[in-house]
Amino acid sequence: MNSFIWLGTLGALYLFFIFSTPVKAPPPIRVEKTVEVTKAEAAPAEIVEKAAEVVVEAEPVDIEKGKAIYLSACIKCHNKDPNVKGPIGPEMVDAPLEVMQAKVATGRYPEVLPEGFVPKRKTKQMTKFPQYLKDVPSIHAYVQSIKKK
Ligand code: HEC
Repeated sequence: MNSFIWLGTLGALYLFFIFSTPVKAPPPIRVEKTVEVTKAEAAPAEIVEKAAEVVVEAEPVDIEKGKAIYLSACIKCHNKDPNVKGPIGPEMVDAPLEVMQAKVATGRYPEVLPEGFVPKRKTKQMTKFPQYLKDVPSIHAYVQSIKKK
């Protein structure tokens, strides 16, 4: 009779360990996820920092270069004529330089909008083009040079 009690106790312990192990397993996975989230949160700050650096190093205004970049990189979404809205992106003749700088650096509107400027869209569809940040004054000058109204 004693051996039955022993076997029962051992069996219960065995089952307890088997079923308790998977319950303990998940935490390490959660830790990895936390690390990823932290990295993702850190990214925007880095981009803003880089944006601030590159703005200082902006190249001299070259309307022809601005036109070339506009017609190669921006008209995928914006209209060939920046006075008119495109298939995805709105017209951009009304965006001040600093708004264009923020859009090109981060894809987003600046956190503090210039006085009187109203974003054409509330969407967040634009992608960033950090490689063109130093040429934004040229792109902006090109867009303004053919502004209609
Ligand atoms: C992937 C499509 C896409 C591309 C490519 C793109 N844009 Fe945009 N852009 C948008 C969209 C969509 C908006 C409206 C807000 C939003 O959803 O981000 C916008 C908004 C803007 C605005 C603000 C206009 C306003 O008055 O509200 C500016 C300025 C701008 N884009 C500049 C550029 C420049 C310069 C380029 C090329 C270097 C470019 N965009 C390339 C999609 C694009």
